[in-house]
Amino acid sequence: MNYLSQVQDREKSLLCNTYNRYPLEIERGYGARLYDSEDNEYVDMLAGIAVCNLGHCPPEINKVIREQADKLIHVSNLFYQTPQLDLAERLLGTCDAEKVFFCNSGAEANESAIKLARRYMRKIRNTDAYEIISLHNSFHGRSLATLTATGQGKGKEDFAPLPEGFKLVPPNDIQAMEHGFTSATAAVLLEAVQGEGGVIPLDEQYMQEVQALCRENGVLLIVDEVQSGMARTGKMWAHQHFDLSPDIFTVAKALANGLPMGAMLANEEVSQGFEPGVHAATFGGGALVSAVADQVLKTIQDRDVCAQVRDKGSYALQLFQALKQKFPNQIREIRGIGLMLGIEFQNSAKEIWKALLDRGYICNLTQERILRLLPPLVIEKQDFDNFAKTMEDILLQNDKL
Ligand SMILES: Cc1ncc(COP(=O)(O)O)c(C=O)c1O
Repeated sequence: MNYLSQVQDREKSLLCNTYNRYPLEIERGYGARLYDSEDNEYVDMLAGIAVCNLGHCPPEINKVIREQADKLIHVSNLFYQTPQLDLAERLLGTCDAEKVFFCNSGAEANESAIKLARRYMRKIRNTDAYEIISLHNSFHGRSLATLTATGQGKGKEDFAPLPEGFKLVPPNDIQAMEHGFTSATAAVLLEAVQGEGGVIPLDEQYMQEVQALCRENGVLLIVDEVQSGMARTGKMWAHQHFDLSPDIFTVAKALANGLPMGAMLANEEVSQGFEPGVHAATFGGGALVSAVADQVLKTIQDRDVCAQVRDKGSYALQLFQALKQKFPNQIREIRGIGLMLGIEFQNSAKEIWKALLDRGYICNLTQERILRLLPPLVIEKQDFDNFAKTMEDILLQNDKL
């Protein structure tokens, strides 16, 4: 029995069966490279699903981890502590939001947003508006409320009864959105770029019309930046490409480059929906994760990572467009913004995904046909050159079949 089979058997006997894993045991990583337990090297085109945006084990982040761990890791939110405030200040300096609530994950950040929207409507606006409108093909998390708001995936009803007060409408259809509005509508929740849904940026005009519709009707706009935030798209927040100013937006994944952390940001007015005792998170904004996230944001700013992402992203898009022109019978569409890239194939891309893995490239396959690339933002252009050459080789062989 080989080593990987032993690990697989061990896991089977120990863990709940929730993940289909890639046939790799990853042992270490540096920058945009991962190494398995046999010391094979892989180019990481996934970054822990848009988490390790600064790459694996960046020295300046590890230094902060060590230093803060030697000082203070966690105290309860019963106490004041500076790392949380330093982070809040830096985070709020990147956007229009004015207040922040810290938590631990994307689902939790979205739960917080939903709770804030509902409580703001009841307590500040004195209206019984509670309904959250989200989009088909969206992904917002796996807690019961965020699962209900999610517009894709199978088996939702197996978890019934699902919470009430959620409605789904098709994306890029402003009339459907308008028809969805009632006096019970509290907020619209959307991703500016649908990630799990296949790297689909929403139409700019649609987004602006949704924002205008929300303003006219006193409905809140919540943007889920869990995957698209933290410079991933070439701006700190994807909604900044669309000139939006959401009432609330959420972040997680890359915030602390791999340590679990989430945040919900809101404007001053809407933030008044919360008061002590109505919402909290034990680990939220702990000293260690806050110090790390502060350094992550600082590094992004100091190195102008956003400009690099725009440059590398358009470089990669050109390479992929050229591949599409060469193989129109295999590649249907190239999409993306910054380093959130999708290559949609005409048919299942499972074999292509596997062939890439065998040749040392870790990518993600979503919706069966879409290769989703979310590399660490520190990836080099040369990695894209080599990736495109490898892909060309694989597609040429497919053409011959
Ligand atoms: C857009 C979006 N929202 C929310 C989530 C949920 O985040 P988490 O897994 O940290 O709960 C994800 C995770 O993939 C996501 O992509």
